[in-house]
Amino acid sequence: MARCDDLAMHSDEPGRLTRRYGTPALRAAQDAVAAWMEAAGMGVRRDAVGNLLGRYHGSDPAAGTLLLGSHLDSVRDAGRYDGPLGVLVGLAAVEHLHARGERLPFAIELVAFADEEGLRFGTAYLGSGVFTGALDAASLALADDAGVTLADAIRAFGGEPDALAAARRDGADLLAYLEVHIEQGPTLEARNLPVGVVTAIAGRSGLQVTFAGEAGHAGTVAMPLRRDALCAAAEFVLAAEETARSLPGLVATVGQIAAEPGAGNVIPGLVRLSLDVRHADDAARDDALRRLRARTDEIAAHRRVVATWELVNDNPAIACEPALAATLARAVEQTGHHTHRLPSGAGHDGVMLTHLCPVAMLFVRCAGGVSHNPAESVTAEDVAVAIETVDRCLLLLATAPSSP
Ligand code: GLV
Ligand code: MN
Ligand code: MN
Repeated sequence: MARCDDLAMHSDEPGRLTRRYGTPALRAAQDAVAAWMEAAGMGVRRDAVGNLLGRYHGSDPAAGTLLLGSHLDSVRDAGRYDGPLGVLVGLAAVEHLHARGERLPFAIELVAFADEEGLRFGTAYLGSGVFTGALDAASLALADDAGVTLADAIRAFGGEPDALAAARRDGADLLAYLEVHIEQGPTLEARNLPVGVVTAIAGRSGLQVTFAGEAGHAGTVAMPLRRDALCAAAEFVLAAEETARSLPGLVATVGQIAAEPGAGNVIPGLVRLSLDVRHADDAARDDALRRLRARTDEIAAHRRVVATWELVNDNPAIACEPALAATLARAVEQTGHHTHRLPSGAGHDGVMLTHLCPVAMLFVRCAGGVSHNPAESVTAEDVAVAIETVDRCLLLLATAPSSP
């Protein structure tokens, strides 16, 4: 818990926690984690995009590698547990082994992904996308708010944008990826349980939508003559909400909106906005996107503006691996708690890791289900249960290495 507090001090912005990919704050957080990894007997390295990796070797080189981890970047004005908690719980489990001078047959690789939230470049799963070889090279040309390209940001962070494809982690030795994360929902709290085992992660689509109208004088252009891009965008935001409300489990969010030229006495000529759409069922998400696309075209035609619609990322729902989830559930039972299984509405690096190996996740109860908000909170008691669960899960995997 103290380490979560320490890492929260490393922020891009004074007074609140914002840790974007490639910034000095992210580097400082990585440096702190790297020092803890080394003290826990791990060899530490960074890959070509700047993911931080600590390796605690096993006693049997043929027994493979188990990945533990989560991410160290954050959203804007974030809480301190979304991401770092999973890295630090994995670290605690390795520290327990190191303190006992114990080696499991398999190696443990603790991964602190450099970018999961995609705050700077809109790239969900950038870190784990590079790790698994799923990153599209075209993404290197994406630019942040200041016009810095992803390629330049990778370079400035000490990485190698030209070596990303080669940096893909070979999956041949990987037994599994196990991630601990705050629940970010109310289920465990409602059931009075400290932890839960994740069954699946909902699919999500991220889009950039623009409305291009015509800028003009706020005092002289009569209302019927206007082609106001922000009025079109306003209709779109409500259409997204209405579409999402039409189907249980469907969620749609416009979280970023920018109007240009951006002056009080100028009719907005151009609006860019983000759209995030999610559902557990991929066909339902695809159908919602089709319907919303048709509504967008109607809005654009009726307001005489031009709408463009660009899919920035699109990830299907994934299932956690049943045998691994069962082992994790056994570990939870060994801590004396009932195992509840639940799906994740939030996205996680495990989505990318399914390209390489079986994935399982353990959720930790968080107060009020609040996350992506500085009020995010967990209790030390629940975190202790999560650590003990991982400790026990490692031992279960070590005694039955053929069935992770
Ligand atoms: C990641 O936090 C997400 O947006 O689900
Ligand atoms: Mn998050
Ligand atoms: Mn997260």
